[in-house]
Amino acid sequence: MNEEPLLTFRDVSFAYESDWEQRVVVLQGINLSIERGAFVSILGHNGSGKSTLAKLMNGLLLPSEGVVIVSGVETRNSEAIWEVRRHVGMVFQNPDNQIVGTTVEDDVAFGLENLGVEPGEMRRRIDEALSSVGMEQFLTAQPHRLSGGQKQRVAIAGIIAMRPSLIILDEATAMLDPQGRKEVMSLVYRLNREEGITILNITHFPEEAVHSDRVIVMRAGEVYMDGTPADVFGQVERLQAAGLDVPQAVRMRHKLVQNGLEMPPVLHQEELVDHLCRLLLTK
Ligand SMILES: Nc1ncnc2c1ncn2[C@@H]1O[C@H](COP(=O)(O)OP(=O)(O)OP(=O)(O)O)[C@@H](O)[C@H]1O
Ligand SMILES: [Mg+2]
Repeated sequence: MNEEPLLTFRDVSFAYESDWEQRVVVLQGINLSIERGAFVSILGHNGSGKSTLAKLMNGLLLPSEGVVIVSGVETRNSEAIWEVRRHVGMVFQNPDNQIVGTTVEDDVAFGLENLGVEPGEMRRRIDEALSSVGMEQFLTAQPHRLSGGQKQRVAIAGIIAMRPSLIILDEATAMLDPQGRKEVMSLVYRLNREEGITILNITHFPEEAVHSDRVIVMRAGEVYMDGTPADVFGQVERLQAAGLDVPQAVRMRHKLVQNGLEMPPVLHQEELVDHLCRLLLTK
């Protein structure tokens, strides 16, 4: 068994080129390890450095100071950079900017062609990836005709076909309607639980984080909080001080407790409803 973390940040600082002279750093003193198989959520205010952090993870950006190691390889190692990018797939916010093929099939094939995968193997991987995201019946469809959620699932299929270790979603649900968000979130949770793919979900929706293994909160370029959803969302005031929202159930429970009700911590609506019913029905 390989116990080494999938991803390690050691004393990483980062400044965009133009700001380096003035030492305007966007990230500073980042020390992080991401374990294989984890589902990690990243929350943080606008401009706190989440996307920059994500781009450092697959070598799209290189650290100004410190090192980033993916599967034992430093991202600074230019010979291994394509291997790093194959390991770490990224899904971005706007589904329309990620489509490269004129059919769904072409779109998923794109990355594989770049890898030089032979045709038979390519066929197998495309079919497998599309069925894994529940889009197998759209093989010959034109991507621009799909819904936002379906487009993001095709983008994810393109990544899965490359057999990645880690998928980073950078606000991949931000432009989707509630149905699309649900489709994408249940897909990535399933890929994590059933196929063991490590997931890192950057999001503005705290609800998306309640089932993850770990929640990292960024603030002004630093790791502000890092723990289980129960640890992090248990600190409502600390989160609100950073201008961040908590899941609705957590917020409501917090208000009820402030008003004198006794209730153990909750994360999801079902738990809150359970506790409330128990309180009301036993009165
Ligand atoms: N290409 C760039 N050149 C210079 N500064 C940049 C560049 N991209 C981002 N920044 C700055 O770096 C800081 C962090 O940006 P980043 O995009 O990582 O934040 P974020 O947490 O992803 O924000 P959001 O929630 O808005 O997506 C911000 O102050 C931003 O203005
Ligand atoms: Mg961002």
